[in-house]
Formats: sequence, C-alpha cells, structure tokens
Amino acid sequence: MLKPQENELLTRTGPGTPMGALFRRYWIPALFSTSLPAPDCPPVRVKLLGEPLVAFRDTQGRIGLLDERCPHRTASLFFGRNEDNGLRCAYHGWKFDFAGNCLDTPSEPREHNLKARIKQKSYPCQEHGGVVWTYMGPPDQQPEFPHLEWTKVPPSHRFMTRHVQECNWLQGLEGGFDTSHLSFLHKGDTTLSVPTRYEVIPTDYGFVAGTGREAENGAITWSANVMLMPFHKLIATTPLGGHMWVPIDDQNTMIYCFEYSPDRPLEDDEMERSRTWNGIHAENLPGTDFAIMNRANDYLIDRELQSSGHSFTGIKGLAMQDCGIQESMGPIADRSIEHLGLSDAVIVKLRRFLLATLKEFSAGGTLPGLDPASYRVRSARFTAPGSKAFQDVVDEHVRIDGPVFAD
Ligand code: FES
Ligand SMILES: [Fe+2]
Repeated sequence: MLKPQENELLTRTGPGTPMGALFRRYWIPALFSTSLPAPDCPPVRVKLLGEPLVAFRDTQGRIGLLDERCPHRTASLFFGRNEDNGLRCAYHGWKFDFAGNCLDTPSEPREHNLKARIKQKSYPCQEHGGVVWTYMGPPDQQPEFPHLEWTKVPPSHRFMTRHVQECNWLQGLEGGFDTSHLSFLHKGDTTLSVPTRYEVIPTDYGFVAGTGREAENGAITWSANVMLMPFHKLIATTPLGGHMWVPIDDQNTMIYCFEYSPDRPLEDDEMERSRTWNGIHAENLPGTDFAIMNRANDYLIDRELQSSGHSFTGIKGLAMQDCGIQESMGPIADRSIEHLGLSDAVIVKLRRFLLATLKEFSAGGTLPGLDPASYRVRSARFTAPGSKAFQDVVDEHVRIDGPVFAD
C-alpha cells in the first residue's frame, strides 16, 4: 500500500505537479502520423498531461501542437481553418503558425500591431515510427529523441493501435509489470509454478523487473521485463511488443500497443491473434480511440463463457481483460486500502523506484532514460545459475545493438 500523499505524487501529472514536471522531460507520443495525413489537412484535438491541445500539419508539412484555447477569447482552435502555413481561429480570424507565432489579427486595427505581442503556447514535435512525439518541458532541457528500436523499423515490420483507458496511467503501468495476473486474468490457470524471486533493478533507461522460477539443477528461469522511463514497457514475445501508458489527464490514459519485428515484415500467421482482437490490441469504434468493449457495456462480459471455464473473465482479448480490470479499480486507485502479498513484490518495488526517482529529480538530480542510447534494450527470458544474482546476469540478455541503430 501507499500513503495517500504518495499515491497523489505518483498519479498526478498535470501542470505544476512533481510527476508532471518529470514526465515533461521526456518525448511523449501525441498522435499517429496518419491522423495528420497531408499538408493543410483538418486539425486534430490532443490532450496530454491534462493540457488541451490541437495538432495540425501546415502547408510545408511541419507539425504544430498548440494550446487548444485561442489566446484571443479562448475559442477552440480545433474549429479553425488550416490554411497557408497556419491555423486560423474560426471566431475572429486570428492566425497562428506551427511555432505559436501570431501571424494575423484581422479584426484589429493594423497600426496597433497586436499580433507582435501575442504568442500561443506550442510544443515542438518530431515524427518517429509512425507517431508524432512532443516535448513539453523546459526548452533548454530538450533531450535527443531516444533510440527506440520499434520506431526505427519500416511500417511493414510494425503493427500499432491505441485506445483510451478510463483510469490513471499508473494502473496501466502496474498492470504491465504485474506478472502474477497473467495466469489468472488471462489464463485462469492456477497450476503454474509460483515464482520464487522478484527483483526490480534501477538502470540507466528506467528499470528491469525480474520474476524468477526454479528450473532444473538449481537454475532459475528469469522473465526480465524492461521499463523505459517514464511509461514504456517492452514485451519479450514473438513478434516483440510493448505498451506506452500516456496520461491524457489524471483519470484517462491513452494506451499505445505495438508489435514489431526488427528485421522482417510481420507475417500473417503471427498476426492472427491481433487481427481477431484476441491479443494486446483493442478493436475501436470506427474512427475513434474508444474500444467497442468498454466500461459502459461491462466489456461485453460473457458470464456463460466465464462459468464454463473457457475464459477466466468472460471478456474477449488480452487488451480488454487488462483495460477492464484496471478501470474497475476506479479512476485513480486508492492504494492506501490495499493488502499486498509476496506476489506483489514487483509492484511494491516499482513504486519505490518511481518515488525515489521523483525525489531525486525534485532535489535537482538527473533522470534515467535521457541518454538516447540507453533505450537500446529489449525484454527477455533466459535461464541462469541460481547462484548468480539477477542484476549480474540480466544485462547481457536485454542490451541490444545492431544495424537498426546506425543512422
Ligand atoms: S477567439 Fe479566436 S480569434 Fe477570437
Ligand atoms: Fe495483462
């Protein structure tokens, strides 16, 4: 469990919060590149870390990400016209370029030159791996974009979706590193051996969580799950995969789900589970980021399927099983009323890691994950002698290099 103040610290990411300041030091996914398919296409609403924003692609293809509220009288720039290298507010015609400069105030006397005194809040954007990323922190602290393997492969090697999760980001992250739910929520298989070792090792990219099970001859089979600061998890499946839990605001999260193959196109047979929405991707209502199975319809739970034993939850697909159970904990889970057991050791340790990282950052210390090359890692499964500590054997299995990183 956490003290209420600790829970507040970890879950609040709006402007002016300590965790919000930490998140704003990293590149954050804002939307898919395909949502802004062409120059001068319609603008798109984006909400990140509690801030309402609007994204547009200008005539030259540059992406602007501006405060959604027009600085004149706060009308939404979403209704604006995207024309001739700028977004023009539909209310009185003020116009802004991709960097937030005010280009025109047609309803004002020209000689007042009001536009020179107006600057709209804007955040720099970069496109990597089919995603528009933004940096919302102090301009002089902007890091280089990290070496994320999945962003460097061709589109044919990658499959990616996103959907809104109606709860706080930390419920998502904790679910991602909660290995003991795998055999219940997703499988209903209680016969699997119980892990005997739980580790969370702080690293230069974030942390690596290890769950160890006894193997033959005193060896340990480790499942090593990588967390990249501040909200990424990499999955050691074939194809490889991962999630990012990006706060929309404190009670809503955009979860990005991706699968990729580093060196070849994804094959039809390995994508079967994803195509039928049984894997880590949710099927959305057409044209939206909202899942067809959602909180309002109890994720279309099938009680017969649940009682027949064919599904532990009666809910179809890994994505909706996770989403549903995490949302059921409330918009922001009250971690002060929990009763934790040994199998929650990774959860306890990851919270301690986040609190310690936040404390160090708030005291002026450096953050993990800002060296772009530190992200050259994958999650992994491996067996090692029981006499060796997890932190002494994990590095050689998770660190990667290769031609994909050659620029
Ligand atoms: S509110 Fe946007 S121009 Fe007036
Ligand atoms: Fe899960």
